[in-house]
Amino acid sequence: MILTLLKLLFYKLYLNLIGAVLVVKEQILDRHRVPVIPEDQYGRTIVITGGSRGIGLEAVKKYLNMQCSIIIGCRNVEQARNALSSYNSSMVRILPLDLMKLSSVRKFAKTILDYDIPIHALTNNAGIMFGPRNESEDGFESQLATNYLGHFLLSHLLLPSLEQGGTAEKPARIVNVSSCAHFCGSWMDFEDLNMKKFYSPEKSYGNSKVAQILFSQYLDSKLSARGSKVRVISLHPGVVYTDLYSHVGWVQIFTIVARCLMKTVSQGGDTLVYAALATELDSAKTVGLYLENSRLTSTSSFASSLENQTKLWEKTCDMLKISDFFETTI
Ligand SMILES: NC(=O)c1ccc[n+]([C@@H]2O[C@H](COP(=O)([O-])OP(=O)(O)OC[C@H]3O[C@@H](n4cnc5c(N)ncnc54)[C@H](OP(=O)(O)O)[C@@H]3O)[C@@H](O)[C@H]2O)c1
Repeated sequence: MILTLLKLLFYKLYLNLIGAVLVVKEQILDRHRVPVIPEDQYGRTIVITGGSRGIGLEAVKKYLNMQCSIIIGCRNVEQARNALSSYNSSMVRILPLDLMKLSSVRKFAKTILDYDIPIHALTNNAGIMFGPRNESEDGFESQLATNYLGHFLLSHLLLPSLEQGGTAEKPARIVNVSSCAHFCGSWMDFEDLNMKKFYSPEKSYGNSKVAQILFSQYLDSKLSARGSKVRVISLHPGVVYTDLYSHVGWVQIFTIVARCLMKTVSQGGDTLVYAALATELDSAKTVGLYLENSRLTSTSSFASSLENQTKLWEKTCDMLKISDFFETTI
């Protein structure tokens, strides 16, 4: 009992410490940088999850301002439609997607595959943070299911359209929106990924975010070895004032303070757009790029460990019943 309480306290304090360090870094030491990206991206099609609000919605607006065609997957289609009512509707398709249901991920992917169009970037952005332990309809812990497993499956299913969109000079990209909180996933228990034995909201969020990076780096190295025209990038978008903090007490109480300490949603969208479109990333030789403030940076040593990447990859394929990631069957 005491050990459990100490563990809960440790993960809470550790995640808050990471957040505080990042706030100081982002507000003082490494202030927001607006990426320079060619403004006309006409002809490029981007799929994004969670584009109905928050950072994802801001990224969508920026993509649209650059003339990209967008396919949004979200739970609340009407909300996304209203939020984008002032944009050219012929450039936006909004489809229902609930990442907590693998059947919904499959349906969303099938609709896109049926369009039979090349996809130039898949931005796996949707996410949830904290809250009490909950399970998806497929029996997976909810933060892992939403932030990681649903996106793993979606990347697998949309790989053919991404291969169609990429070229040797300009590969298509899978962009996984992770977080600085991935450091809190450094004690991931591979035998209890659904956190049935011990649940801490902070550890679970950290696990889902480190899982996104382990997946990104491993998949990028695999794709690169296969001569694929798809690259995989992960990123931290900044500590950004959004609804994501609805379970964080102090942010809800001291709203004005929180707004002053955090990045704006528009700033949050910048690294997503940079990751999906920046030309300079095409020539990067390193595999498994991880970005922060539209620049390359390093991840935790846990996330860059090939042993951890391989272990998680195998466990995930088992959980999702994927026998060959590179052979897509719906
Ligand atoms: N804000 C930050 O400080 C911060 C820091 C690091 C990383 N991030 C990451 O950035 C990403 C975006 O976060 P945000 O701050 O923009 O959060 P947000 O404002 O709460 O938006 C979350 C988005 O995810 C969607 N979503 C949630 N559950 C879903 C599900 N089951 N199926 C489909 N869509 C779902 C939501 O759509 P609905 O409208 O359908 O709910 C919404 O569009 C997340 O991956 C988050 O972990 C954020």
